Amino acid sequence: MNIIIKNNYEEVSQVAADFLLNTVKDKKNAVLGLPTGSTPIGMYEKVVEEHKKGNVSFKDIKTFNLDEYVNLDRDNINSYYYFMNSNLFSHIDIDKNNIHIPNGMADDVEKECMEYEEKLQSSGSMDILFLGIGINGHIGFNEPGESFQTTTHVTHLEHNTIEANARFFDKLEDVPTTALTMGMKTILSAKKIVLIATGENKANAVNEMVNGKVTPKMPASVLQLHNDVTIIIDNLAASKLN
Ligand code: GLP
Repeated sequence: MNIIIKNNYEEVSQVAADFLLNTVKDKKNAVLGLPTGSTPIGMYEKVVEEHKKGNVSFKDIKTFNLDEYVNLDRDNINSYYYFMNSNLFSHIDIDKNNIHIPNGMADDVEKECMEYEEKLQSSGSMDILFLGIGINGHIGFNEPGESFQTTTHVTHLEHNTIEANARFFDKLEDVPTTALTMGMKTILSAKKIVLIATGENKANAVNEMVNGKVTPKMPASVLQLHNDVTIIIDNLAASKLN
């Protein structure tokens, strides 16, 4: 694993944005895997700034998002569809037909997962996939204990994930308990993976991911099995690395 340690969130966001921008500048029809959460917001801001300067176009880019809650419609401010639109897609020149986000409102969510995975695999591998990390080490919504063999699937969120994400909702009971997520096999199929993390509350998970045993109990440890992973973290998230 290639580890880049920066001083603060701003610098982490810039380095991550540079990875994304360089991929798009090098390959006009690149396939990007994209995350949500508070961590990538700064990266998206920098990507949008660069687009507004006229330095990069997303016209032929395809995107696949990592995950989505079940039963939040697209207009709900906490849906990942809404998040992606307000933080990135509505500010760039991407063709809306090239945006893919699992549909958490599908009548048959299992079928939706299968179709999502098929669409992703038939678009060719993701050239680059960006990830955040949960405090419990989840990536996407792959919670501790889930198999490393999964493709896109329906998952049930751990109580501590629900609590961690409750900050975005009016009350704890409003946080969905089910989500659709790319599986570990899907994640490992990306050609290049970039994980970003900041803050002291991620320090344990970061250390376990890098130095711990490869085990489904620490989902992000699966990244040790991939040959092109870059971790971009700030000093605080790096503080428990040994
Ligand atoms: C959610 C998302 C993950 C994300 C994680 C961390 O659970 N499903 O993809 O990595 O939160 O989010 P944050 O960046 O807000 O800490």
